[in-house]
Amino acid sequence: MFYITTAIDYTNGAPHIGHAYEKVLADVLARWHRMCGEPTYLLTGVDQHGQKVQQKAEAADIPPLQYAQEVTHKFTALWERLGISYDGWAATTDPRHEACVQKILTMLRDKGCLYKKVYKGFYSVRQEQFLTDKERLEDGTFGEEWGQVIELEEENWYFNLTAHTAWLKEYVTTHPEVVTPEFRRQDLLMAIERATHDLCITRPKKRLAWGIPLPFDPDFVTYVWFDALINYISFAGYLAEEGSDLPDFTKLWPAACEVIGKDILIPAHGIYWLCTLHAMGFADEQMPRLLVHGWLNIKGKKMSKSLGNIVDPNDLCDFFGPEALRYYLVRDTKTGYDSDYDPERLKMIYNTELANDLGNLANRSLNMCLRYCGGVVHRPAAEQDDELSAALRNSLAEAEKTFAEQMHAYNTADALAALNAHVGMCNGYIEQKQPWVLAKDPEKQAELQLVLYHLLESCVHVGYLLGCVLPEASARLLEQLQVDPAGLRPQTLAWGILTEGHTVQAPSPVFPRILSPEEKEKMAAKAAAKAARKPSAS
Ligand code: ME8
Ligand code: MG
Repeated sequence: MFYITTAIDYTNGAPHIGHAYEKVLADVLARWHRMCGEPTYLLTGVDQHGQKVQQKAEAADIPPLQYAQEVTHKFTALWERLGISYDGWAATTDPRHEACVQKILTMLRDKGCLYKKVYKGFYSVRQEQFLTDKERLEDGTFGEEWGQVIELEEENWYFNLTAHTAWLKEYVTTHPEVVTPEFRRQDLLMAIERATHDLCITRPKKRLAWGIPLPFDPDFVTYVWFDALINYISFAGYLAEEGSDLPDFTKLWPAACEVIGKDILIPAHGIYWLCTLHAMGFADEQMPRLLVHGWLNIKGKKMSKSLGNIVDPNDLCDFFGPEALRYYLVRDTKTGYDSDYDPERLKMIYNTELANDLGNLANRSLNMCLRYCGGVVHRPAAEQDDELSAALRNSLAEAEKTFAEQMHAYNTADALAALNAHVGMCNGYIEQKQPWVLAKDPEKQAELQLVLYHLLESCVHVGYLLGCVLPEASARLLEQLQVDPAGLRPQTLAWGILTEGHTVQAPSPVFPRILSPEEKEKMAAKAAAKAARKPSAS
């Protein structure tokens, strides 16, 4: 089972482009694995507890649950628009999740992994955590990222994290597959050395009421991170009630891929999460794998409220369309690294690779097939291939191989680059073969058919594989090519999907060019001028 999860997004604001990137990445990977015929389960959701949500709700003068639900709706509406094909929805106020968290807390206490103690120290209100000397800057102060820092004395429950860090170090050292990319695993290894404190896993109810109640101590609620991380197993059916409609845990776990951003690897996922599972008795083979992506920045700067540069994915869907955004996000970002969100690049990449390269290829190929062959495809024998045609066939096979390898390695950008390179090759092949010249020569009919076959067969393969990134465009393209993707599999994709006598439909553009408002105006003016020159039909 390919069980893939994403981080669950805080319901303390609105979704931004970083949230959208993560969900699209996970969705593309999930769709890819489904295409490959692997049983796949994609879990995403929202992180609804914690101080930030409580504060926002107070400011809005509504109950925290209502606030969290209103924000949750913004996320679900966006995922619907972006075609995120999740199988499970992890909302942390779900009673099934709360029950699971409470069972785990009780279990850990019974195992002797939790203890209560008084702690006095500096506390970051923004990050909802106590700070230690490690967090101090050289001048002794705490950095800006911590926001307001106050001194606090508090009794709380602690998880004996440090009892598990020796195991963690050994585990991460000997299991390179636990974190992708590798340089993030190195970061984690260094961070483990610095993990010398146990983890406070509660907040006194008098300070923070918006959390899961501690089942054995009514004065406390569970710390939001402890609650949130458990979503990956609670919604996978771990300790689920008899007759629950959650999945069968033994079928899903361990997660093949937990997609998270770089900011929540250390300490949350890399340290707290793995140690919690270890404390619960999960064996090494039962540990999830983490895929850590970078951040989307804006002109080299971090997105932030104070800079006022937060990008709302809904605006981009309005202007460019959801699939243009999907393509851009996974095409222009090297998985694992930071990348700059740039609408000019979005437009340029879409117009070049989809509108021009693939869109033109499909339109020309279908049009020529209709015009010269009545929409009927003729399949040539392999021996008929001339050098150029054989090269094209090889190029496709290579592109598909690279696409599959790169998708399995989570490198969506390189996977898509490989398909685009083949499309470029096809367009070059058209220029060299000049089918419109062949069409005029009755002796060249066989060659014409061969050329059209190579082009259309390429469109089928590329259109099919793009289905994991552009589900709608892919479906429309395959519809025009009259190919049903249900019978196809990437692993067995071979030359010859189009059979002798196959018929295709007339093309209708799948990738209309993205125009700037000025370009649109110019086009409209041109069209009006043309209409004025033409004598009116009426
Ligand atoms: O961290 N670019 O929630 P969150 C790319 N609730 N990804 C970004 C990003 C950016 N600019 N900004 C944020 C939380 N992200 C917790 C997670 S998981 C058990 C709990 C990513 O809403 C971020 O790295 O702040 C994280 O993976 C996800 O968006 C949610 O961030
Ligand atoms: Mg965050």
